[in-house]
Amino acid sequence: MQAFHPRYYAIVPAAGSGSRMGSGQPKQYLALLGKPLIHHALQVLCGVAEIEKVFVVLSVDDAEWRRHDWSGLGDRLVPLFCGGTTRADSVLAGLRAIASLVQPTDWILVHDAARPCLAEWHVDRLIRDLAQDEVGGLLAVPVADTLKRADEHRHVLGTVARDCLWQAQTPQMFRYVMLRRALESAQHVTDESSALEAAGLHPKLVLGDATNLKVTYPLDLHLAEWILRNREE
Ligand code: C5P
Repeated sequence: MQAFHPRYYAIVPAAGSGSRMGSGQPKQYLALLGKPLIHHALQVLCGVAEIEKVFVVLSVDDAEWRRHDWSGLGDRLVPLFCGGTTRADSVLAGLRAIASLVQPTDWILVHDAARPCLAEWHVDRLIRDLAQDEVGGLLAVPVADTLKRADEHRHVLGTVARDCLWQAQTPQMFRYVMLRRALESAQHVTDESSALEAAGLHPKLVLGDATNLKVTYPLDLHLAEWILRNREE
């Protein structure tokens, strides 16, 4: 029966230092509308009926998590203090930590802690579009700008055709065993899809939108605040 009724779990890697924000505080804990930035996406993931548990992968020495109140998110939220030196290491550590809870064909949704504007419809669409897929896939948006390849002095070497180019977002949703094997063999990947691609698989792109932005630089925090405020109203 298990093969026909896979369960859904979320893993949120949040063991990064967020050095590009220049704030001295890991970006998952920066204040956004009075809450830690990570709280917003966790609230959405914990509210999706299909998702059994939401695992947050924190660094081993994270002292900040317990300073905040997460009780409003319910008992589906589980912190794991096992993060690694890269994002992929953190996700893999999370997958290993939950091995005894999950079945090989269960779905794992990996979502960046740094994407606080995740909306319920993003997750619903991902789950609905991929439910019957063998491999899985990810939220993404078509590239709108003209893209330039440059040398190290910022002189343009050429224009990259943007047809068929997409920007990858998260969540990215794959079967537990496929994702774990792919990450165990992958080198230097910055998302889960790249690991599956390196294994010769073809994840599906599910149309998201630009509101699911990743907070990387200080301006992004203002944009995220604007998006969340306008969504609330
Ligand atoms: O640094 P970047 O924005 O690419 O990080 C993407 C996500 O990966 C963030 O949620 C960050 O906390 C997480 N990460 C992690 N472990 C690391 C590095 C990044 O969980 N060692």
